[in-house]
Amino acid sequence: MTKIAAEPLSALRARTSYKWQTYPADVLPLFVAEMDYPLAEPVQQAIIGRVLASDTGYIAGPEPVAAAFSGYAGRAWGWDVAAGDVRTTTDVSVAIVECLRQAVPVDGSVVITPPVYPPFFELPPEADASVVEVPLLLTGTGWKLDLPQLERAFARGAEALLLCSPHNPLGLVHSAESLRAVADLSVKYGVAVISDEIHAPLTYEAGAFTPYLSVSENAREFGICVTAASKAWNIAGTKCALMVAQSDRMRLQLDSMPAEVPARTSILGLHGTAAAYNDGGPWLGDVLEALAANRSLLGELLAAELPGVIYRPPSAGYLAWLDFRGLGWADPAAVAMERARVALEPGQRFGRQGTGFARLNFACSPEVLAEAVARLAAAAVL
Ligand SMILES: Cc1ncc(COP(=O)(O)O)c(C=O)c1O
Repeated sequence: MTKIAAEPLSALRARTSYKWQTYPADVLPLFVAEMDYPLAEPVQQAIIGRVLASDTGYIAGPEPVAAAFSGYAGRAWGWDVAAGDVRTTTDVSVAIVECLRQAVPVDGSVVITPPVYPPFFELPPEADASVVEVPLLLTGTGWKLDLPQLERAFARGAEALLLCSPHNPLGLVHSAESLRAVADLSVKYGVAVISDEIHAPLTYEAGAFTPYLSVSENAREFGICVTAASKAWNIAGTKCALMVAQSDRMRLQLDSMPAEVPARTSILGLHGTAAAYNDGGPWLGDVLEALAANRSLLGELLAAELPGVIYRPPSAGYLAWLDFRGLGWADPAAVAMERARVALEPGQRFGRQGTGFARLNFACSPEVLAEAVARLAAAAVL
């Protein structure tokens, strides 16, 4: 038994969020990245406290989140962040678009590394830029950034790289060495690096995650970190994300954004996020323990019941990138829905490389996970 348990299905089905309202009750929803655990108590109390105080107006500034993140970054990763280098906005997607608007001219181009979180294909166009794809490489030891192809894209004139670190959907934690190489290339070609680190607190091995801006002076010169407590503490609906810059050049970009960008942060999100960074450590530790158990359980279940599916356990996060090509399922998410009543995220949404793959969210109870794999296994013999 892990210290934290997912809520029962009856309570989950009463949630009004996307995960629980999209499909009828016979479907097990393992698609969107929401978790099934009850919230961390300090986060709940912080939000409830503001509501009880009728303190639900506009934010007055990035405090108390800036100081809370500064403390958390130091404790979790040994990363020195001055509170003055932190700005807030609505959510990470908005942060990415606004950073791209600063760094990339209209009709410029932005590099992404598929297979990747589907909105990465849409956020650059929202900032009037096009997308250049430099797929990740699958090697004998796992996935990695394709540095020679990144350099080629930079040399051809891309103005920004949108990095997913850790990488959704693979749960890949980029090595400090590869991040340093990216930073050197970014300075050589004058390319901004927007590093989306929303999954970082969900890294399983302590010390494995390296914040991009911590790797070198070059990283800080052209890089911005965008992040939020929304994935690790499951508070996407409270709308608060952070942007961190640690050079004059990138601080200027943050300060050149319209005043509405920070003003759109939710005051409830601001306080919930500060509570997560300040006091949410023990809860996160329990959640990581439950997720690590499910990460192993999924491997065992697949090996026993669906050996044709290839699964590389993620190093961070609760998303499993499953290769169904061995089963001959062209669109595994469609088959899973139709034959097994299990909702998965279709692999092709993550880029062409995702054809024959699907993403499964294992932040659920072990029973739901086992039931989902059993249903998929039954579908495979139909
Ligand atoms: C890599 C990545 N970035 C951003 C987001 C979305 O963040 P937000 O809800 O803050 O826009 C997600 C959500 O799953 C994600 O996986």
